[in-house]
Amino acid sequence: MRAFRYPKPPPSEITPRQLFERRREFLRQSASGLALAAAPALWSTSAWSWTGRLGDAKATEFTTYGDKTPKEAIKTYNNFFEFGTGKDDPHKNAHKLQTDPWSLEISGEVEKSGTFGLEDVLKHQTFEERIYRLRCVEAWSMVIPWVGFPLAELLKRHDPTSRAKYVVFETLHDPEQMPAQRRDILDWPYKEGLRMDEAMHPLTILAVGLYGDVLPNQNGAPIRLVVPWKYGYKSIKSIVRIHLQEERPVSTWEAERPNEYGFYATVNPEVRHPRWHQATERRIGEDGRRRTEKFNGYGEHVAHLYESMDLSEHR
Ligand code: MTE
Repeated sequence: MRAFRYPKPPPSEITPRQLFERRREFLRQSASGLALAAAPALWSTSAWSWTGRLGDAKATEFTTYGDKTPKEAIKTYNNFFEFGTGKDDPHKNAHKLQTDPWSLEISGEVEKSGTFGLEDVLKHQTFEERIYRLRCVEAWSMVIPWVGFPLAELLKRHDPTSRAKYVVFETLHDPEQMPAQRRDILDWPYKEGLRMDEAMHPLTILAVGLYGDVLPNQNGAPIRLVVPWKYGYKSIKSIVRIHLQEERPVSTWEAERPNEYGFYATVNPEVRHPRWHQATERRIGEDGRRRTEKFNGYGEHVAHLYESMDLSEHR
């Protein structure tokens, strides 16, 4: 299959270099408002940057307003085994990760496969702010204001074929930058998977920011998955590959400890994890514990996806 490239603007739409290099001066001069009408043409040059748009993301209908977990806690209490297994290892070690430039490969059962620069991928997305609960299997949770866009929007641009039944995600494998990958902790690279209907569900997002800023490295920069009705381990970080296929994949944790982790990872307080009970959770930054809600509280939106399944068996 031929590699797909996002369409390039025709030469007539590319701003001449001298004009582009004078854009700051132009914008200063435009303070009067007179020259502003021409501004969109200037911004459609290669100087375009997605990072500046994060703070303007629109809140969506799925947003759960609640007490957000303080940003400092979200950035310092993490799971990211590529940087160590301790909760404070990622924020100490993840600065080594170079997130710009970044490539994302989209492969397998799609008509338009290829490897794309992240800037190009994000150029086509409208960012939204989604405040979602993240629930971890070890029974802690956070409420995080993510900035991202629906995974479905990206997948649709690449035309999945009728054989696309599952989506597999892979994290970067580079022990130079991710030092704990030199150790035999997991079978690197870290992998996750979703069923196609879960991947296309509007609650599922690819996040590139939180609290209106670029995603911190320890939280999965530059792009990570967020599936709010599932345990955190479905939130694969620093994604370099999205692969569509017919067979159900085996995700990293399922391969590692099949008696503890299933493919679905749907938050289910009725099912005990062999080493923890799942009925209550500790919200990071709060005293005491809360009762855990099935589907992490998103049941009205997603319960129908599992109607015919026994979720204590399909963990
Ligand atoms: N992604 C990769 N590549 N490596 C990991 O170790 N840990 C997962 C998930 N994504 C992990 C990962 C787990 S177990 C959790 S709970 C969440 O990331 C934690 O996300 P946070 O640190 O941003 O809160």
